[in-house]
Amino acid sequence: MCVATFFEMIDLIIHSAAQLLTIAADAPKRGDAQSDLGMIENGALAIRDGEIIAVGASDEIRAMATRETRMLDARGCVVLPGFVDAHTHVAFAGDRANEFEMRLRGASYLDLLKAGGGIMNTVRATRAASLEQIIAETRVRLDRMLAYGTTTVEAKTGYGLDTPTELKLLEAIYELDATHPIDLVPTFIGAHAIPEEYKGRADEFVEVVVEEMLPAVRGSQIAYRKSQSQNSDTRYAIRHPLFCDVFCDEGAFDLAQTRKILERARAMNMPLKLHADEFANLGGAALAAELGAVSADHLMVTRRDEMKRMAEANVIAVLLPGTTFGLGKNDFANGRAFIEENVAVALGSDLNPGTSWCEAMPMVLAVATRYEKLMTAEAIVAATLNAAYASGVGERVGSLQIGKLADVLIAAVPDYRYLAYRYGTNPIRTVIKRGQLVSERRSS
Ligand code: NIG
Ligand code: FE
Repeated sequence: MCVATFFEMIDLIIHSAAQLLTIAADAPKRGDAQSDLGMIENGALAIRDGEIIAVGASDEIRAMATRETRMLDARGCVVLPGFVDAHTHVAFAGDRANEFEMRLRGASYLDLLKAGGGIMNTVRATRAASLEQIIAETRVRLDRMLAYGTTTVEAKTGYGLDTPTELKLLEAIYELDATHPIDLVPTFIGAHAIPEEYKGRADEFVEVVVEEMLPAVRGSQIAYRKSQSQNSDTRYAIRHPLFCDVFCDEGAFDLAQTRKILERARAMNMPLKLHADEFANLGGAALAAELGAVSADHLMVTRRDEMKRMAEANVIAVLLPGTTFGLGKNDFANGRAFIEENVAVALGSDLNPGTSWCEAMPMVLAVATRYEKLMTAEAIVAATLNAAYASGVGERVGSLQIGKLADVLIAAVPDYRYLAYRYGTNPIRTVIKRGQLVSERRSS
């Protein structure tokens, strides 16, 4: 049993879990270790002030209860860390249901993008929407994500493509982080598409991203941090980084443009991410390794030699099986190869109105296991601990360890393998965020 020193009251004990998955580690898990769930049968954990203070065998943890302690019985269930969704475009306005139907009839995603639709359709809707409207539309998505067990979300901008709208999206993300139970980690992706007003002038747009947008968003983050530090609320325990990301692909930004933006962001001390190899291999994975990016994401057409470079540079592979599924394609990322090459694999939904409107991490597990050849245990580690490190918050969330935030799920399944094996219904019965019960359903 692991116990912190405690003489004070314990707020909550979750006990009698058939399987308690600690996923304990102090770094992302990779290779053979990626399948190590740190499982305790008949396990329990104790929570005080929103943090985990003890993890171990049920009998021992239950003995710590005081009169005030709330007891949650997880008999017959699996207890695991809250899911971390390592890659989303959750903040946007409107939808693209019409494009979905066009794609069903045979149109390709890149053709729609090249014809001024795709991302640009959502950019037009997002530019036209008020801050309040974006927040309201995004909040209901977050509510549904929470019910499916997501407690931390990486959230990108990228539907503004001009400085005021990129700042508006960042403000929406900050506001939702402060007012929704889910923690949101912001990523700036001003280079998400070439906006129509810069058609044929991509290099000029890159100049705007580098000279105007990057300093503006970095400045807004510093201002936000100041306001956080004046707020004594413990909700602000996580100091979120602000990542910089670029869509490096055919029809978006080439390798030289990507390098230019990421090098400037790195000079501003922003951690880096990269959309790489979603459609065409432009060398993005190797660039991520060269620049020391925290993650490279998508990676559907990445070569083994590039995987080796990612492993050497500790770049996390964020795989997004919902995107390949959502596009109705078959070229899933080779998750097995990343594990074999000793790259830490994380998972995300890629929630966005174009390629993957998926709000449920259990669905991501279902597809990752079948089509990206991850074993269920590897996929669970990918959607918790490794996703937390890919989002820059691995020190605070992603595993059930003393001192981490008490972001805990009770899944109404008898065995962890059910989390990917059974699909299409919600296995998550109870969601606890920072020690508070934030979502509960009758078990099915
Ligand atoms: O990750 N690839 C770029 N961005 C998204 C798609 C965004 C959209 O179509 O709105 C993705 O698939
Ligand atoms: Fe994406």
